[in-house]
Amino acid sequence: MNTKVSPVIDLSRKKDGTNDLAAFTRDVAEGLNRKQKHLPSRYFYDGKGSRLFQQIMDLPEYYLTRSEFEVLTENREAMAAQFSREGYFHLIDLGAGDALKTKILLHELARQQCAFDYVPVDISGDAMQQLTESLHTDLPQVRVEAVVGEYFTALEWLQENKSERKVLLFLGSNIGNFEELESIAFLKEVRSYLQPGDRLLMGIDLRKNPDTILAAYNDKAGVTAAFNLNLLHRINRELGGNFNVDQFYHYAMYNPGEGVMRSFLVSKTDQEVFIRETGQKFHFEAWEAIHTENSHKYSLPQVAELGETCGFQIETVFYDGQKRFADVLFTVR
Ligand code: AVJ
Repeated sequence: MNTKVSPVIDLSRKKDGTNDLAAFTRDVAEGLNRKQKHLPSRYFYDGKGSRLFQQIMDLPEYYLTRSEFEVLTENREAMAAQFSREGYFHLIDLGAGDALKTKILLHELARQQCAFDYVPVDISGDAMQQLTESLHTDLPQVRVEAVVGEYFTALEWLQENKSERKVLLFLGSNIGNFEELESIAFLKEVRSYLQPGDRLLMGIDLRKNPDTILAAYNDKAGVTAAFNLNLLHRINRELGGNFNVDQFYHYAMYNPGEGVMRSFLVSKTDQEVFIRETGQKFHFEAWEAIHTENSHKYSLPQVAELGETCGFQIETVFYDGQKRFADVLFTVR
């Protein structure tokens, strides 16, 4: 067998000469020197962390993934028809991963014989290689051109290399990890790479019973705790840290006033940690916390306002049966 699978486009090499390890070291040192210690959630996803996140998506408490599956499954016909209404388009999937959810749409687009190509974007080269191969087998009629790189590097490349209309997917409530100002800056930058008439389908976790939300980030089996604590293991592995991970624990809290889920790693004792790559020792007081993640939950008026601020107008809101989650289809103004 030597059927040809299109190669992935690799844009992951940094222009400024810095490497990933240098950036990780800098961000960890900067975050742990703050008065309120902080570690960025983007570093959760090493090999181990990605496997733990897969397990999170299967947890009974983690409703987000199942709800979004339902949204996409129940509304796939309408979505595909709306995407392709004006003819050929590039379907760009930001943070595609294994694209399990996107495949629902890809099958439907193929069934309706829509004219499009699929451009998954992810920082994991392995994931993009595997996805390209699996689509070649499952959906040989779909043109796939995977891009490995950061979102904006990929969007810049797409602006120069893809001339047709664009439909951008930003699924999974990934927008929720941003602070309010960050989400505005992010969407404004996304907008700058698009043209009027292009579209954005964005996954949003909606406000709901606070107990439901809290349980999703504090599961009984302790998978989310392991996912959060893996960040300390990763620092030990990659940056030569000496965190005694048993001396920290996972604490998650939801503030229903703000609609923000916050996760922490709390030091159980007064302790010092040395991280070789930073050349620094960090002191933790007993019960001092490292803030590791925010997950914002939105109301629909907030989503509309966020879009409006950044140059996007809501075209259609697709929900699951319980209205826990929405995939919001925006048009670029
Ligand atoms: C991948 C950012 C959508 O915030 O729900 C899951 C990550 N963190 N459990 C989320 C996560 C803890 C997840 N996102």
